[in-house]
Amino acid sequence: MCAGGDLNIQESGPALRKFVAPEFIFGPGASGLAGRYARNFGIRKVLLVSDRNVASQEWFVDICRSLDDAGVVWTLFTGLSENPKSGEVMRGAEVFMAEECTGIVAVGGGSPMDCAKGIGVVSSNREHILAFEGVDEVRLPGPPLICVPTTAGSSADVSQFAIISDEVGRRKVAIISKTLVPDISLADPGPLLTLPPDITAFTGVDALVHAVEAYVSNAGSPVTDLHARRAIELVITSLPSVMEDLYDPECRYRTMMASLHAGLAFSNASLGAVHAMAHALGGYLDIAHGCANALLLEHVVAYNYPAARERYTDIARIMGGTGQGGADELASLIREFRHSVGIGGTIHDIGVGRSDIQALAVRAAADPCLATNPRTATIEDLEGIYEAAL
Ligand SMILES: [Fe+2]
Repeated sequence: MCAGGDLNIQESGPALRKFVAPEFIFGPGASGLAGRYARNFGIRKVLLVSDRNVASQEWFVDICRSLDDAGVVWTLFTGLSENPKSGEVMRGAEVFMAEECTGIVAVGGGSPMDCAKGIGVVSSNREHILAFEGVDEVRLPGPPLICVPTTAGSSADVSQFAIISDEVGRRKVAIISKTLVPDISLADPGPLLTLPPDITAFTGVDALVHAVEAYVSNAGSPVTDLHARRAIELVITSLPSVMEDLYDPECRYRTMMASLHAGLAFSNASLGAVHAMAHALGGYLDIAHGCANALLLEHVVAYNYPAARERYTDIARIMGGTGQGGADELASLIREFRHSVGIGGTIHDIGVGRSDIQALAVRAAADPCLATNPRTATIEDLEGIYEAAL
């Protein structure tokens, strides 16, 4: 008999688990390799997908120059918003095809990277982006995709997820497929130095939520556990320091590393009720993803706690608690942490009303992230969690 029960093995015995990860280059200067990798992948013409804010940063010019220096022709697409819409993806795919592009470089946070993933699969499969909703619904992989993440949170650069808003149905659609894993991530902490405080906090807490949800997911594994635990440690120890000094390169580096670990964990273990409910908030009310997550996490933990008691105890200890105080202790630790990085208030303060709750709960119940939540949640349960978070 082996000692120790920390390997996330079910009572019925070890389950089969796979682990998918892209190639990644991590460290200062990684973004300057975009041109070299585009050339190595044989891309003749790149669709450079970004947003207007990112494309206006000084360091963005260096990424464009790396493409020029490598002799790779490119055209810029910035026609996307926060919570990228299906129509924006379809317009991007039109540009990709009209410009005869053969590969994509995505530079930005989760929105440009998810939009880029969508553009890729639409251009190779010639179907509407919403047709790929769900798990393993993408037939053909997209063209080569190089990601340069410029936030430390979404982890779209290493994940098999793309989240696209269906603007007509006012819901977010999760597309989960191995074909969405980028060909390479160039994870450069340099661009983080220009990230404003609110986006730093929202994306940093998003990484924490990714790690927490992966750690309690019913599809976790010993490998995803390693990444999830390390991500929680790194966010807890580095994000408050970054908020005190946004220009501290070492702390920014650690938040980027946290995002990488969290991404490797959740891409393979999937997520849970926080993300299902945050996706509903993003789709129905266009609320920023990281903010929605931050305001929901403590309430989902309180609901889930009986179904994953040992796992949440571990998390409480990693967050500096005793692990003896049950759900209340962990919920308090999470609440204190979000306040410490400047995220106060409730979902009511960001525009959610009691009359929205039923529509939100219906949307959250249909989200594939809910399938791996440790506790099976009904629509009524989800309504109760939204109520508690108001
Ligand atoms: Fe997220």
